Formats: sequence, structure tokens, C-alpha cells
Amino acid sequence: MAHNDQPLEFTAEVPSNIALVKYWGKRDPERQWPANDSLSMTLNAARTITTARLHHDAKEKDKDNGDVLLRADMGGELQPVTGNDKALRHLAYLRRELKMPAALHISTKNTFPSGCGIASSASGLGALTLAAISAWTGARSLTELAASGFDLPRLAELARLGSGSACRSFFGGYCLWTAGAEPESQSVMQVYDQDHWPLADLIVIVSPETKSVSSSAGHLTTASSPLFKPRVAGIPARMRRVRAALAARDLDALGVEIEAEALDMHAVMMTATPSLRYLLDGSVDFLSWLRKEREETGLPAYFTIDAGPNIHVICDLKDTAKVSARINAAFPHMAIIADRTGAGPTLTWRPLP
Ligand code: PMV
Repeated sequence: MAHNDQPLEFTAEVPSNIALVKYWGKRDPERQWPANDSLSMTLNAARTITTARLHHDAKEKDKDNGDVLLRADMGGELQPVTGNDKALRHLAYLRRELKMPAALHISTKNTFPSGCGIASSASGLGALTLAAISAWTGARSLTELAASGFDLPRLAELARLGSGSACRSFFGGYCLWTAGAEPESQSVMQVYDQDHWPLADLIVIVSPETKSVSSSAGHLTTASSPLFKPRVAGIPARMRRVRAALAARDLDALGVEIEAEALDMHAVMMTATPSLRYLLDGSVDFLSWLRKEREETGLPAYFTIDAGPNIHVICDLKDTAKVSARINAAFPHMAIIADRTGAGPTLTWRPLP
């Protein structure tokens, strides 16, 4: 049977990514044109798993609004998503852009808590893009998708319109998103694969609560901060130093840069109007502890932080157990998601019964 006639279900797994040089602020929100270049490490354990299929019900097939989207929080039950939701808006955008009328049945879950600074929108919007396009085209692998006109850069470009940072989740290892001189000349590329320098990212959960101001809303406050222009002006030099540290696999050089970079982004957040404070007291206590521990005992670990209270502790993979044990001893009430440099998205399928 031609696979177009056979009901199939497609499962996309797209990892989250942690930015080492952050995307914070947009030159053009409509076209998702970032204020600056950014560079991230693709993760492995923190991912979104999204399954999509065409609606069985023939009556639903050609409807524009017949999509069903179910989402489960980590470990929870699938619940229907309705209203002004980012994923539903992105699905509507993909449908218009790609002229795909068929309604979809989609279910999605994260392997980690959402909306608290573990870049759930990157993996979520990435997985939605990959699963929906696979269901619409019937392509059963990343190779078949590329042959249908949806190679990884194209998928990344489409996912970027849903969430900017999602474009960096389509490649393993270390990924660079350049802003370019025009919105159309943006590009996303892998700079190193995951074997170049596998690092640990120990995500310390200071609070799993969903943040009250989304990063989409946060981006729009950046221009009001007096620190924003100097930040953007300093990014090219920061990027050169981060890339040099990555090339040399020099953790101390990388660590100094990523800590300064994360604090720089949070300084812009806090000095914007309205002021955004994602860091909790527990986050700040953790940062102070990590720095003291490094100075006093030589613990080889550095932090970075996303738009949330949780802390990403970056260290060499071989030091994972030692660093986790020290964190557990000092902060026994804080859970740790032990992650590492990952390999990028996967796509699988199965025939429906
Ligand atoms: O992709 P968005 O709109 O969720 O923005 C992500 C912004 C940060 O996570 C704070 C930084 C980054 O580059 O991932």
C-alpha cells in the first residue's frame, strides 16, 4: 500500500538547548529577527516528544480548524489545549505557510518541567514543527523529509517563527544562529557535533513553577533597558571568545564567558521597564555557593541561566558525579536533571491499527 493511503503516526523527539551566548531581544518581532547572534549547546535528556497523525474522521480532514492538540505536563495526564496558545498559533501559521489543509491529531509531552527556564519552547515548537510536517507530507524519516523539501535548515527556519530558540534545536552539538544583515539572511548551523566536546549540563531545579512572564513577552521589554545597546554591541567580541574556548575545549575560559553572559542578560531583564526578575532568592544563593565552592575547593563547574530561576551547571562529563554530589550535599531539597551535549532531533513512525 502506498504510504499516503496507510494511516501512520509520526513521533518527533526534539531536544531542548541551552544558550551559551543568549538570544535576548528582537530587531523585528514579526519576522523573528533577533537583535544578536546566539550560540547554544543541544541537550540530550531534556526533550519534547510529539506524536502527530492526520485525523481519521473524513469529515474533519479538510477543516481548517479541526486540529486536536493534547499536552501533558511532565508525568501528568494529556489535556486538550485550547485558546490563545503559542503551539496552536504556530500550527495555524505552518498550515497557512505550507498550504496544508488536513487537520491533525497531536499529543505532546516534555521530559522536564515546562516554562521555567529549560527552554521548553525550543523543544516544544521544534517537535511540533517536525511532527506536523511529517504527518502532512507522510515522510517517514529525516532523509525523506529532506527529499520532500524539508531539510533541517528549512525545518529550523519554520520552527524559528514559533519560537526563536527552537531553530537551534535542529542540530546536535553546538549550534550558531546568526542574525544577518536582513531578516531573510538569518542562518542556523552546527559549529561542532556532540563528539567535539561533550559537556554535562546539571539543571538545578530551584523552582519548577511556570514563570509569570514568558520569554516572548520578555523580548519585547529589552529596548527599554539602558544596558541593552551596550550588551548587543559587546556580543561579537563575546561570541569570538566563546567560540575560541569551544575550539580549544577550555572549560575555564568558557565558564568565565558564559557566567558573565548569563548575568548580562539578567541585568538587561532587571533594568527593563517593566523590570523582569526571573531569578529567585534560591537562584542567587546557588550562584554564590557555586562561585565560593569553585574558589575554595577548585570545583570545576560554571553556571548559565535561561529566562527562569533554574541554574544550568556546566562541567566536564567526567566530573558529573562529583559535581552532582556536592550540589546535593549543599542543596538537598533541589532536584537535578543531569543532562549533557546531545545529538539533535529524531523522527519515527508506526502504522495505526
Ligand atoms: O525562543 P524564545 O522566544 O523562548 O527565547 C529564548 C530566550 C532565552 O531562552 C532566554 C535565551 C536563548 O537564547 O535561548
